[in-house]
Amino acid sequence: MSGSSFIPYSRPAITDEKVLEQSTLFYIQMKTRRSVRHFSDRPVADEVLDNIILTAGTAPSGAHKQPWHFCVVRDPETRRKIREAAEKEEYESYNGRMTEEWLRDLQPLGTVWQKPFLEITPALIVVFRKPYELVDGVKKNNYYVNESVGLACGFLLAAIHQAGLVSLTHTPSPMNFLSKVLNRPENEKPHLLIPVGHPGDGCEIPDLHRKSLNEIATRY
Ligand SMILES: Cc1cc2nc3c(=O)[nH]c(=O)nc-3n(C[C@H](O)[C@H](O)[C@H](O)COP(=O)(O)O)c2cc1C
Repeated sequence: MSGSSFIPYSRPAITDEKVLEQSTLFYIQMKTRRSVRHFSDRPVADEVLDNIILTAGTAPSGAHKQPWHFCVVRDPETRRKIREAAEKEEYESYNGRMTEEWLRDLQPLGTVWQKPFLEITPALIVVFRKPYELVDGVKKNNYYVNESVGLACGFLLAAIHQAGLVSLTHTPSPMNFLSKVLNRPENEKPHLLIPVGHPGDGCEIPDLHRKSLNEIATRY
């Protein structure tokens, strides 16, 4: 145990009834989360985005390496560049790169290559994963990077929803253009592009159904 120090940890005393109530309320809250593709330009305060990112930063990570970085993009010119590059990639994807099966699977979502929301929302959060750190020019590998960053993104989406905002998990692949536009160091790789804001007037979402408990869980 050399090199580590420990501190006491406990949670506030709680009854079993309260545990059930809180788990139910959280589920009720989270099941109304939806991906939105039609946003308003209503502003969101910096402090709100800070809190959301701080929440994402509470996620567990392999060997506590916290292999993530979050870029908040508000600048209109930078967003114009991101939209232009994203639409270029999406155009290619929708017109030849994606398989017929993939396009069929996307049909119910009504997605298209045009991404106006990239310039409309008050902010984009671009999540980068860090496969390694550069310490004095020496590569130090991180562990379970995809798993760790995936968890942080889950926390991020939950925090956005809990704040009363909406988001889209967006992957205009390949996403290398994000490293270039945002001038990120070589040890950061783009992971997700997440527009955040309020839903636009008349916003509609696909009528999707989630799998039942029996379909997603097995008790032993
Ligand atoms: C890894 C990942 C990548 C995604 N990429 C895109 C995307 O590029 N464009 C898009 O419109 N939606 C994208 N989505 C959103 C999914 O389509 C959406 O989560 C799914 O249809 C379920 O809808 P819901 O989020 O409203 O529950 C992505 C979701 C995930 C988890």
